[in-house]
Amino acid sequence: MNIFKLEDYLAKHEFSTQYLLCCSDAESFDMVEILSMASTEDMKLWNNLRLSYTESPGLSILRKTVANTLYKGLSEDNILMFAGAEESIFCALHTLIEPSDHVIVLTPCYQSFIEIPKLKKVDISEIQLKEEHQWRIDLKAIQYAIKCNTKCIIINFPHNPTGQVIEEDELKGLVDICESKGIWLFSDEVYRLLGLPNKQWAPPAACLYDKALSVGVMSKAFGMAGLRIGWIASQDQAILKKIQHTKHYTSICNSAPAEILGLIALHNKDKILERNNHILEANLNLLNQFFMEYSHLFEWVKPQGGCVGFVRYKGSEVIDSFCERLVQEKGVLLMPASIYNYESNHFRIGFGRWNMPQCLEKFREFLYHENL
Ligand SMILES: Cc1ncc(COP(=O)(O)O)c(C=O)c1O
Repeated sequence: MNIFKLEDYLAKHEFSTQYLLCCSDAESFDMVEILSMASTEDMKLWNNLRLSYTESPGLSILRKTVANTLYKGLSEDNILMFAGAEESIFCALHTLIEPSDHVIVLTPCYQSFIEIPKLKKVDISEIQLKEEHQWRIDLKAIQYAIKCNTKCIIINFPHNPTGQVIEEDELKGLVDICESKGIWLFSDEVYRLLGLPNKQWAPPAACLYDKALSVGVMSKAFGMAGLRIGWIASQDQAILKKIQHTKHYTSICNSAPAEILGLIALHNKDKILERNNHILEANLNLLNQFFMEYSHLFEWVKPQGGCVGFVRYKGSEVIDSFCERLVQEKGVLLMPASIYNYESNHFRIGFGRWNMPQCLEKFREFLYHENL
């Protein structure tokens, strides 16, 4: 198995670097803040919680709340919980894909979308999102890449690392393509509801198509990555059952305290999302000003969803060395495009956290001292 470059990079820097300017999650919460939002009923669940094994598909009331809060028309039987989104990607793709299959993946992408199909030794077609097309999905290119053994199309919108979204008509167009060929649609939607898209959010793929798997998580929009609570939503209960059988070889069941904390957060969804999108909006305004001021050095397609964007560095230095010097000299962490196995002078920037303005000031100091 190839090294997961992004996770390896974060493992090296995340807990030793002061100014994290490439994080992909919203500002987190203290335990006291979350518990202070709990209703009397939720507090009873928390205080009486037994630290035994939990239900393998996930706590029933949690699955019901995920379905009712986020997936119109779906019920708890359409939700399977996991330890974060990462476990759900691993279990679902491992279950779904056979060596004789062909899969289509949009790149640049979160590395699991490529590596897990590679583990199964399948034929993979990568379709590159293009900056000149505003990083938007290209349905014609997807249609063109389909083969008679295409099992699954893997998408991720809002997109990591470009922050671009899929609009409802584009998603419906993709569903039509998949439906006409009986292809599964694996849709990583972990950044959904975080950000300020120009148009309304497209519905989750799982609400539109019976062969879609929608991945969701508490890590990103809710800012609760430490819970390790994620899920897959699908209309197809038979595939969820099969994926659950794979989960029996990984985590078996979720962490009991994490399930209750996740439940409390979901019961306070609007309040939490309002707080996080407020931080994000202020940060995005600052970044827009910053990139206007430094337009000779940087260019980006303004992100529409999620809290990361992909910025092109126009200077002559290779971006890896630029990022390395920035973290060594100023303790500011960006993420170069090579982490995505993407050959270009782009870097990922993150803007979901309270301290982004301080990180940006340190970045500015670096540019000033470099006379850039
Ligand atoms: C697109 C995408 N999917 C899945 C994950 C994994 O999420 P989690 O940390 O909740 O497992 C990430 C994390 O950055 C991501 O960007």
